[in-house]
Amino acid sequence: MTRKGPGPIPGGYVLWFGWKFVIVLSMVLCVVALFQLHFHDDIASPNSLSFAGTGSRIFEDNFDGNPKIAFLFLVRQDLPLDFLWGNFFENADIGSFSIYIHSEPGFVFDESTSRSHSFYDRQLTNSIEVAWGESSMIEAERLLLGAALKDPENQRFVLLSDSCVPLYNFSYIYKYLMASQRSFVDR
Ligand SMILES: *[C@@H]1O[C@H](CO)[C@@H](O)[C@H](O)[C@H]1NC(C)=O
Repeated sequence: MTRKGPGPIPGGYVLWFGWKFVIVLSMVLCVVALFQLHFHDDIASPNSLSFAGTGSRIFEDNFDGNPKIAFLFLVRQDLPLDFLWGNFFENADIGSFSIYIHSEPGFVFDESTSRSHSFYDRQLTNSIEVAWGESSMIEAERLLLGAALKDPENQRFVLLSDSCVPLYNFSYIYKYLMASQRSFVDR
């Protein structure tokens, strides 16, 4: 009788301690995971600070310069439709846009690789190897944005691939994007 009583109590204690341990362990793991996320973000993107620093500036009302649209091309190598874009940019005011290209490392846009002088020497020098559908694509877009954010005149950012074509003329797109505070996502 005396042994029957205390029998289940240690079992209950064990169970209770078990749950307590699981709860504490999950809390510790959560905190560690949060720290790792934060730490990883700092390490993985040296630009994260400048993103934070310049992000608010973009929407400041007191920006007094000539606002530009930054066209950010993420391409595999060259730009097959450069003749269309060349025509598009030729009709644009030179001070109202900027071009950044992320191509494969070492690829150079010059007379031998591009039909439009708008693209000469516009490729990033710190480009990385990109695999389609992998996170390297996001990293490449971040490099493009990081480069474009260094110029405070860039007030709108257009992410493009090598298969994009302009459907409207430059002045139409410029007026449309500058008048809008929204972001646009297209398939
Ligand atoms: C640009 O396109 C718009 C609308 O399609 C048109 O009204 C305008 O005249 C065009 N501007 C130029 C400079 O071609």
